[in-house]
Amino acid sequence: EFHLHPKDVHFASDGPFGKFDNQQLQRGFQVYKEVCAACHSLEYVAFRDLAQLGYTDAEVKAIAAGFSVPGVDPNTGESTMVPGTPTDYFPKPFANDVAARAANNNAVPPDLSLIAKARHNGPAYVYSLLTGYRDQPAELVKEFPGSKTPPGLHYNPYFANLNLAMPPPLTTDGQVEYSDGTKATVDQMAKDVSAFLVWTAEPKLEKRKQTGWAVLGFLLFATILGYMSYRSIWADKK
Ligand code: HEM
Repeated sequence: EFHLHPKDVHFASDGPFGKFDNQQLQRGFQVYKEVCAACHSLEYVAFRDLAQLGYTDAEVKAIAAGFSVPGVDPNTGESTMVPGTPTDYFPKPFANDVAARAANNNAVPPDLSLIAKARHNGPAYVYSLLTGYRDQPAELVKEFPGSKTPPGLHYNPYFANLNLAMPPPLTTDGQVEYSDGTKATVDQMAKDVSAFLVWTAEPKLEKRKQTGWAVLGFLLFATILGYMSYRSIWADKK
């Protein structure tokens, strides 16, 4: 078997008590913004949503203004690209799929908003993919000559097709400079951006988990109350 299952990696948002680690989400956002956004959009995430990660209104405004979004020229009324505002959504980096394919060896980089839900074991998968590039094993080519990585594609055993059009996006320690002092190793950046993509896919994850506990608490209470009523109603019947 040459296709591998995702690595065993854990995130603060895992499990019934899972919570987001806002520091990590901010680092992950930074990786997205400085690396992934060159090719991938987040079409279901608006800049103003970043306030949930702890950014101030001024910071959100500045982040939005750093992106170009489709808009209208106020003087001519023609369609053009304009600086983003907090209510805009993370834009597509290519004008259209033709341009996207032309730049990416005939593949369109998918929108990443929901990738952590769309792929089985999403965050671990994204992390494994980002850290999983390697040379294609010689035995694989010997056994299946047709699988030889074509020029322009990259071998990655965590990708279902084994060869993918995305060049390794995280290659060097310190590729981004974290403002919280965390060392930006490739492994750390991969983990942080994967955690960030859990948030983009389910920003209300914490609320869902908390509500679940409240529901269980209520059901337990109702069960005990029901049992006590039953006991008291039938108390004098033999
Ligand atoms: C595909 C993540 C940066 C180009 C993907 C996939 C993910 C991903 C999860 C989907 C794999 C699948 O379908 O299961 C990321 C992250 C990045 C990043 C987290 C930043 C750290 C980039 C950059 C480029 C790029 C900078 C362009 C230079 C592509 C392309 C595909 C792709 C072309 C489609 C691959 C194919 O179907 O063969 N990326 N990516 N990505 N990405 Fe990225």
